[in-house]
Amino acid sequence: MASFLPARLAVCLLPCLLGSGLVSASIGGSRGSHPHIVPNQWVVLLKSEADPQEWQASSAGDTVRYHSDAVNAVTLSNLTQGQADQLWEDPMVQHVEPDRTIRLTRSDPCESASPSLTAAYTQLADLVPDLELAAEQPHHSGRSLAQMSPLQPMISGQTVPTGIQRVNGPLKGMFLQPIAILDTGVGPHPDLNVVSEHSCIDGKPLTTDQNGHGTHVAGIAAASDNGYGVIGVAPGAPIHNVKILDFTGVGTVSSLICGLDYVVANNLAGIITMSFEAAPTPADALPCDNPSNPTTAMHQAICNAVNAGVIITVAAGNEGDDVANHVPAAYPEIISVGSLADYDGLPGGLAQDLSTARCGSGPDDSLAANSNHGSSLSMLAPGICINSTYIIDQSPTGYMVMSGTSMAAPHVAGAAAVLRQQQGVSLTPAAAKQLLTHPTCSPSAYQTLFGSPGPSPFPILDLHCI
Ligand SMILES: *[C@@H]1O[C@H](CO)[C@@H](O)[C@H](O)[C@H]1NC(C)=O
Ligand SMILES: *[C@@H]1O[C@H](CO)[C@@H](O)[C@H](O)[C@H]1NC(C)=O
Repeated sequence: MASFLPARLAVCLLPCLLGSGLVSASIGGSRGSHPHIVPNQWVVLLKSEADPQEWQASSAGDTVRYHSDAVNAVTLSNLTQGQADQLWEDPMVQHVEPDRTIRLTRSDPCESASPSLTAAYTQLADLVPDLELAAEQPHHSGRSLAQMSPLQPMISGQTVPTGIQRVNGPLKGMFLQPIAILDTGVGPHPDLNVVSEHSCIDGKPLTTDQNGHGTHVAGIAAASDNGYGVIGVAPGAPIHNVKILDFTGVGTVSSLICGLDYVVANNLAGIITMSFEAAPTPADALPCDNPSNPTTAMHQAICNAVNAGVIITVAAGNEGDDVANHVPAAYPEIISVGSLADYDGLPGGLAQDLSTARCGSGPDDSLAANSNHGSSLSMLAPGICINSTYIIDQSPTGYMVMSGTSMAAPHVAGAAAVLRQQQGVSLTPAAAKQLLTHPTCSPSAYQTLFGSPGPSPFPILDLHCI
């Protein structure tokens, strides 16, 4: 038995460690050897008086797409560096930059512990006390993982995921404020109220999710109150499925701007949630709306969407790094969301640390170990072991447990939908950010990363405190 247990642990630890290693390789490496520039593809921002379609008629390169809503621009491919340099002399051109790759903020690949796995951890904890020690809080020493495994409260036949309980979601009703999921696609899934779909993947009009990530994100924000499955923060809120990342989780700045164009042009959604990263450039740190020293196309497009009234939540990223080094999470106009490790849906740090055995996420009610953080992080929301909708052909139940800041950001998007429903659609992005990041309750009990209790250095999402 003893030799069997470590093997079972490896089943989970290895993919987790490997998973996080891959993340830092792809994000960190993207500044060096990893190609983060789309070869020969450029985003050309035009002056406001230029019409992108007319302008393009006279320029070099092949048009990938026109942008006229989030920004006035054209994405061109098959354009050499020399040809791109020449465009700067065009009187209609404001700014030319290489198109960049954007990548999913990788979620933890660990799935929910099966009962046999939980039992294995229980025994393992006895065999290897050190494993537990690192995370242990005095008030639950001696209690087994199985005894402390999270309860799954039900309401009207639906699972209430721990995150929904933790943020005090309304748990019922039909919310009307739309949320656009800019991700790998959404569904189809019977627990989600998808009202429009659009693909920004070149040459691929299919909008269904072939990755699972976008479907999971959508369920956290808005799974319906319908008597089965799970319930989201803003149950039944209309979802706009805007596919900007392919099934491997990769897209471009151009596909992002295409998604923002779709949302802004159709006045579709007052709220966007997204969880990807691009390799930052110095221009990303420049402020928006300064034509003489312009910021990047991605930053300007996001600013324009926010100026059009769209509340945007962004996953902070899972590198355990300062969020200031990650875009778009570092942009001040959006709400950047880090991951709270919460295992029981309650404040107070009382739950056993199921996740340390699996993914090293840290004690209950702490900043998740791999969440990005730092002074420009707007807030925290639950992001570890979150149950939500998943693509049906990759999960027999249609539900899956996933972890990461990708799971935290949609909690805040759902909360923004609840706020807009209560306060009216005129609630501006800045006012929503102010309300969400300044909870009126005193800080809920929170354990720091290394286990000493204290007030959270970051606001924690709680709809009862707004
Ligand atoms: C770029 O050139 C290649 C090869 O000629 C062509 O297949 C591709 O369609 C061009 N791209 C666009 C967007 O037209
Ligand atoms: C997740 O929710 C689904 C739908 O209610 C449920 O069938 C499943 O058991 C839940 N998974 C976990 C690990 O709680």
